[in-house]
Amino acid sequence: MKFDMVIKNGRIITSTESYYADIGISGEKIGAIGLDLDGSKIIDATGKLVTPGAVDTHVHLEMPIGEYVSTDDFYTGTRAAAFGGTTTFIDFVESKKDQSFSDALKERNGKAEAISVIDYSFHMTIGPDDMGKLNQVPAAVNAGCRSFKLYMAYGLKLNDGQLLKAIDAVNKAGALPVVHAENWDIITTLIDQNIAKGNSSPRWHPRSRPAELEGEAVERVISIASYLQSPIHILHISCPEAIQRVEDAKERGISVSAETCPQYLFLNWDVFEKKGLDGALPICSPPIRSQESQDGLWDYLSGGCFDTISTDHCPFTMSEKEFGMAAFNTIPGGVPSIEMRFPALYSKGVREGYITENQWVDLCCTSPARLFGMESKGDILVGKDADLVIFDPEKINPLSCETLHEKVDWTPYEGIDIIGWPELTISRGDILVDKGEFKAKPGRGKFL
Ligand code: URP
Ligand code: ZN
Ligand code: ZN
Repeated sequence: MKFDMVIKNGRIITSTESYYADIGISGEKIGAIGLDLDGSKIIDATGKLVTPGAVDTHVHLEMPIGEYVSTDDFYTGTRAAAFGGTTTFIDFVESKKDQSFSDALKERNGKAEAISVIDYSFHMTIGPDDMGKLNQVPAAVNAGCRSFKLYMAYGLKLNDGQLLKAIDAVNKAGALPVVHAENWDIITTLIDQNIAKGNSSPRWHPRSRPAELEGEAVERVISIASYLQSPIHILHISCPEAIQRVEDAKERGISVSAETCPQYLFLNWDVFEKKGLDGALPICSPPIRSQESQDGLWDYLSGGCFDTISTDHCPFTMSEKEFGMAAFNTIPGGVPSIEMRFPALYSKGVREGYITENQWVDLCCTSPARLFGMESKGDILVGKDADLVIFDPEKINPLSCETLHEKVDWTPYEGIDIIGWPELTISRGDILVDKGEFKAKPGRGKFL
């Protein structure tokens, strides 16, 4: 049999195995994995790794947050993702007050399907104004939302009773609650105290959001979910105090999973000591914490406590960040990471021995796809979508605004050298990026 495309001589890395074989692609699918496969197009991957396309389950593209909209749209953000080897993402939907969840999903999907380059899905947000819509959760699940975001912070914060009702509704509809866990009452109190004392510079951002209280919020929401016998997924864990609570719950047999993000693994709170605007740019929540905290997260990652690494990609331009400079709590929160995640985790995680290459693929590809029910994604098996990355483990990419493709005029990773970068990114049999050249058309991405 002649395949449309065959990838030859690469070392295939999955979440459980590493081995040499050819991969035959028929149309959008992996048709065979074996030796001496024949194809109309042959790609030689000698000296390269072949991984599944990476899956980023936490992204905010052209996302209205307060008076700002995150700067990467569904084209520029997914193009940057493809350069970094990501072929699937999950973004968020927020419904307006008088809008049904299904209508909000339709509206947001309309924006994504017009220009997205890679495949995607959405988490539906349940805010305090949506408590009357909990009976619509099953319809939103039928329309394609398999997970619902619940906030314990910001204006979207749910109180404990609301969390109980929302988790119950989501679980009963067969979907997964995903939670932003922080203790908002403590945070707002500390912000007020710090601002009153004149402590308004960015260094007071992490100092108003203590790690111990992120841990407390994680423990509290796990307890609520455990009482309801519902699985729960904790987003953007920033510190050992929080992942420790997840580990304890897992040991007690509770169905909890956890995500961390590159900003917590590659940066520390010295970023907030930089002078002027530079110190304000990396504000995000939960905050980037101490070096000790970062070291602790790597230990938990090595130990297998995290299930996924996603980005929480939510970029704002320098001038947007500058607009809120009067005090740390008015600066729009969020950092760009959508392009560097997968290679950066190889560069530090695998090359420096914190995780194996199989853990790398599991954290960035396989587990995220499995957790969020994307059956055709995240693995290299016959019948799966031909979402593949040919990864050059020796290619050096110094991160900067010039080398990255995100639509934002700064990166918190400026000057970090990444060793290992995708040479070719393939989505459903289409080559999206070939040796730094972008080949895909906007709008080819599909809602999963
Ligand atoms: O600061 C952040 N992380 N902004 C994005 C919104 C969120 O909380 O995930
Ligand atoms: Zn969040
Ligand atoms: Zn987020």
